[in-house]
Amino acid sequence: MSPSPARGAGGDVALELRGITKSFGAVTAISGFDLRVAAGEIVALVGDNGAGKSTLMKIISGVHQPTTGEILLSGDPVSLRDASDARAQGVEVVYQDLALVDQQPVYMNLFLGRELTRGPLRTLDRREMARQTQRLVDDLDVRIPSARALLSDLSGGQRQAIAIARATHWASNLVLMDEPTAALGVAETAKVEELILRLKQRGAAVVIVSHNMEQVFRIADRVTVLRRGTQVGTRAVADTSHNELVAMITGLAA
Ligand SMILES: Nc1ncnc2c1ncn2[C@@H]1O[C@H](COP(=O)(O)OP(=O)(O)O)[C@@H](O)[C@H]1O
Ligand SMILES: [Mg+2]
Repeated sequence: MSPSPARGAGGDVALELRGITKSFGAVTAISGFDLRVAAGEIVALVGDNGAGKSTLMKIISGVHQPTTGEILLSGDPVSLRDASDARAQGVEVVYQDLALVDQQPVYMNLFLGRELTRGPLRTLDRREMARQTQRLVDDLDVRIPSARALLSDLSGGQRQAIAIARATHWASNLVLMDEPTAALGVAETAKVEELILRLKQRGAAVVIVSHNMEQVFRIADRVTVLRRGTQVGTRAVADTSHNELVAMITGLAA
């Protein structure tokens, strides 16, 4: 597990979306969506239920293919065939409903699908995975009983921290988060937000879906608003207000 290279927040464009449209039969879930996210930048994606936020995240993570439009990673147009293809290109996702395996130790969750093996029989190198996991959680100041603990023995906050630690470790470019703190309490949310800010410091680009306006103002640099599949606008967090965002989300005057 080599440390991800630190990148300067020099404004390199990590992700660019150009004219993304997605239809499911007669339903247009997204139309004409454009966004650029710089390395080291956190962009919040907000909107009411059904606005198209999860669909957009699934397009960027290779789960859905756009009907029209272009995705560029670090300036290069890419076609993401599926989720593992996106992962191979440095895109990691943290879901609200954690994509973790309860009955496996923490270290196996960290290496899910990328297990370390040794010897000609390629037996799992559990000791090395546990060692690297311990180093990562120590490095991120994530407190868990042990890298060998079963995931089911962890609290919701600890599990979400593991999901983010995994993304932190493997993402070379971009981390997508769909409501990562929706199921967490206040203290756990604070810890997860600290991890998100560390990702930013390491030069990752982050796109986060959040319903929590205070959270958007605490951690995001910019926020983009979707309403019924249409991009209403994008603002620097420093240049907008809670009221303006609510007005953009609902379509009602502030
Ligand atoms: N796989 C799918 N098939 C058909 N319609 C879908 C599918 N996924 C999402 N939709 C529709 O696309 C719209 C946006 O959904 P979604 O992206 O889940 O919104 P959000 O995450 O903002 O709540 C909704 O009308 C939803 O019903
Ligand atoms: Mg959603």
